[in-house]
Amino acid sequence: MRLSSDQKKEAHDMMELWEDNLLERYPENGKKSKEEFRNYDNPARDTVREFYRQNHKHQTYDFVLQKEKEFLKLDRKAMGLWDAVEFLNTLVDDSDPDIDLDQTQHLLQTSEAIRADGHPDWFVLTGFLHDLGKVLCLFGEPQWAVVGDTYPVGCQFSDKIVYPEFFEANSDSTDERFNTKLGVYTENCGLRNVHMSWGHDEYLYHVMKDHLPEEGLYIIRYHSFYAQHRERAYDHLMDKHDHKMFEWVNKFNPYDLYTKAPKRPNVIELKPYYEDLAAKYLPDTIRF
Ligand SMILES: [Fe+2]
Ligand SMILES: [Fe+2]
Repeated sequence: MRLSSDQKKEAHDMMELWEDNLLERYPENGKKSKEEFRNYDNPARDTVREFYRQNHKHQTYDFVLQKEKEFLKLDRKAMGLWDAVEFLNTLVDDSDPDIDLDQTQHLLQTSEAIRADGHPDWFVLTGFLHDLGKVLCLFGEPQWAVVGDTYPVGCQFSDKIVYPEFFEANSDSTDERFNTKLGVYTENCGLRNVHMSWGHDEYLYHVMKDHLPEEGLYIIRYHSFYAQHRERAYDHLMDKHDHKMFEWVNKFNPYDLYTKAPKRPNVIELKPYYEDLAAKYLPDTIRF
């Protein structure tokens, strides 16, 4: 399925709106929330609300299992790392003057900030590829099944998840298999046994799972799980090992949220460094 340029632009705009919304909810320490500068009437907020209305309604336990089955065979496309980055970037029309940062630049700003702080190279590489799962959009998936906060399915939805009221329309909310605190899980069973709502995080985790250190895989898999890494709403599903690994998820989050700078990284200059990193950790072609 090929997306029209309008559809691509719409998907890209939604991704930007979600990131803005995250900054409203989780402003950088000492900085004012963007919200304070905004009008009461806010069409962007309405778009985000509508996005979450869809997301919370449709992300059921059965939906997630079906998407796992559909995508985790990884038989859609095989690409090298840089090809995947360029493929994701086709979401943006270069000629559009409104676009402030394309996907490659978000990835590079994240990873370059990690590198500047002297972190290990696998962490830099993780930052560089953390959003590649968004290629799901280019496979024709609706935005609410690609981006947005993620959360466990198969148990009660926490009221710490953004717009919790929209879960009323999710059929799992009235299904007694799923609407108790633990649902289909057991206390502290470990997140590896928990199905997360479907999106770019879970998908890319499976794409990368044989290639990166476990800490990097946790970052990829749970970087949009704000209800846990910011709100700690799901301690009852996590085990000790998860908590240890979440130190890295927490370390990563500010790089994801707060490294948007107007200065564009020089893609051509940086490319050889990232190709070397890819050669160290990843196969020549990655299966998506
Ligand atoms: Fe992401
Ligand atoms: Fe990101």
